[in-house]
Amino acid sequence: MSAKWTLITGASEGLGVEFARLAAAEGRDLILVARQADKLDALAAELRARHRIAVEVMPADLSDPEATEALWRRATHRRAIEILVNNAGLGDNGAFAEGDGGREMSSVMVNVAALTQLMKRAVAHMAQQGGGRVLNLGSTAGFLPGPNMAVYHATKAYVLSLSEAVAEELRGTPVSVTVLCPGATATRFAEGAGMEGIFLFRSLPTADAARVARAGWRAMHRGRRIVVPGPINKVFAFAPRLSPRALTTRVAAMFLK
Ligand SMILES: NC(=O)c1ccc[n+]([C@@H]2O[C@H](COP(=O)([O-])OP(=O)(O)OC[C@H]3O[C@@H](n4cnc5c(N)ncnc54)[C@H](OP(=O)(O)O)[C@@H]3O)[C@@H](O)[C@H]2O)c1
Repeated sequence: MSAKWTLITGASEGLGVEFARLAAAEGRDLILVARQADKLDALAAELRARHRIAVEVMPADLSDPEATEALWRRATHRRAIEILVNNAGLGDNGAFAEGDGGREMSSVMVNVAALTQLMKRAVAHMAQQGGGRVLNLGSTAGFLPGPNMAVYHATKAYVLSLSEAVAEELRGTPVSVTVLCPGATATRFAEGAGMEGIFLFRSLPTADAARVARAGWRAMHRGRRIVVPGPINKVFAFAPRLSPRALTTRVAAMFLK
């Protein structure tokens, strides 16, 4: 068994690249996962040269449970995973009644199914190894229903609930679970989800991806359960607790128009 590794999903773009840079700067050996192998290869070459670490590229389509299971087996073959960053994710903008549902089902498979599958494997593996940390990517979307992004918001509500529950189960053990809940962040996520024109992305400044990743990384190292970076996002996270659910959903619909 070699040194302890950090596995990052969705490492070809956006926040995943920033997590890879943070882990590399700490001298951690990395496993980078996403579908775009060319981007993973380029990042791996850059990080190996700059930090003298080992970086393995493991392309995988996480919307496929068998591919996800095969990835975990490959990643843990003669390796110990110390940190899992469950970052891969996607969203879809549009009325629930419209479209063929293909992207929505992919978001359920990646945001929910693959995240659960990898975390399930990871917490058992980490307990055996004597400790470890899981960082899950939630969203401020997880705190309230999202008309016109109904499935995405529901997937992130699931991530938040699952992360908090498992963190409580693991209280007092050397394995921790942290959920990072960013608001709108400057990556290609909004473009992929067809969200660039919506009020939320037009009216509020988008956060810098490197700063958001740093906030999550720090919180993970401290073993914190939830981190919501930025004052406006904290309002989005806490206001729904005080307002009636129907009103919250109506206001969310305005932001997502
Ligand atoms: N940006 C925001 O405003 C924002 C706000 C809150 C939360 N988040 C969350 O932050 C996380 C990262 O998002 P981002 O903003 O960095 O988005 P991004 O730039 O679009 O990156 C998404 C990453 O997920 C990977 N991915 C998507 N589908 C995949 C699949 N089927 N199999 C494997 N990998 C897949 C992509 O890689 P490939 O395409 O190469 O497969 C890519 O590396 C997501 O969970 C997102 O929900 C983002």
